[in-house]
Amino acid sequence: MFFDKQKVKHMIETLVKKAQQSTYEEAAAIIQAGGLVAFPTETVYGLGANALDKNAVESIFIAKGRPQDNPLIVHIYDKSQINSIAREVSQQAQALIDAFMPGAITIVLKKSDTIPYCVTAGLDSVGIRMPDKAEAREFLKYCGVPVAAPSANISTKISPTSADFVYRDMKGRIPLIIDGGSCEVGIESTVVDMTADKPVILRPGAITLDMIKDVLDSIESFKGKDVSKLPSPGMKYRHYAPQCETVIADTLDSALSYYDKAVKDGKNPVILCKTQNIALLENRNSINLGCNGTEVCKNIYQSLREGEEGFDLIICENLGQEGVYASVMNRIIKAAGGNFV
Ligand code: TXA
Ligand code: MG
Repeated sequence: MFFDKQKVKHMIETLVKKAQQSTYEEAAAIIQAGGLVAFPTETVYGLGANALDKNAVESIFIAKGRPQDNPLIVHIYDKSQINSIAREVSQQAQALIDAFMPGAITIVLKKSDTIPYCVTAGLDSVGIRMPDKAEAREFLKYCGVPVAAPSANISTKISPTSADFVYRDMKGRIPLIIDGGSCEVGIESTVVDMTADKPVILRPGAITLDMIKDVLDSIESFKGKDVSKLPSPGMKYRHYAPQCETVIADTLDSALSYYDKAVKDGKNPVILCKTQNIALLENRNSINLGCNGTEVCKNIYQSLREGEEGFDLIICENLGQEGVYASVMNRIIKAAGGNFV
């Protein structure tokens, strides 16, 4: 009988279990034994391993197909853990911690020796995040160790905001997914680098520049273009990429004309837009992103997934740069490979 040994070795049964005490116990046992568990957070689902176990951390990169030079975030359930993970916490960093942790923020600090370099991809800094979602905190508490976790998607794909989305990417690769329902925030945490003289937002998120400005003396968004000098290696990789062509329409008119031309060319397009604009599309295919920043943020990844599954062209409305829309647009621009029509 012919079979691919390599494949057989890697195919494992993936269970999806409701977030409850027995599941946390099982999950913690897997983490402590060096295995991987996907878990819900308020931003997106994470793919967790014991951050202090090099082999376990390496298996995250394998399961995701993630480039080795892209560092992982370390997740905690209690602020007291920060002292053993970071070498120093400046006054400004402490102000951020006090204002936004637990929550949708990752704070990059100088790392201590306890965190292996495979977590930080060789960097002397470490991203620390304390999720706010109760199921995440429970899971992390049961684990009792800092948990390294990227988003639980295959590298380059859209981050998962439900257990079902995790299952589709991670089936056969990991033993357990904790199902904690859908993620309330919907896009990944704001990453703030506090290791340099001036704090910098490396990745925008639901905690916006303006919110951070209220807390820090100075903060700026990363604007560099030279990818070889990027402070956050993740910035140079293709991300959030739907399986089908994806474009951003600068105006509603350009969305409609691009849509109508695509139909003439035999395509099956869909327009992603805010509730307020749905009626203007008449009977064209549409996905409703919601009527405000919070809703659009929560719905964007699921909508991109619906788009790639049901259609062969996604046309997304330009949402502008006001507040959290700037963070959502950051993801959409990457999903569209910067393609505006
Ligand atoms: O909301 C989130 O942050 C989710 C949930 C699961 O917590 N996690 C997440 O992880 O989005 P990931 O690995 O998909 O994205 C982490 C980002 C990457 O762009 C990475 O390059 C950056 O954070 N990063 C991590 N450690 C860093 C460090 N020491 N210095 C600079 N950037 C870092
Ligand atoms: Mg990710």
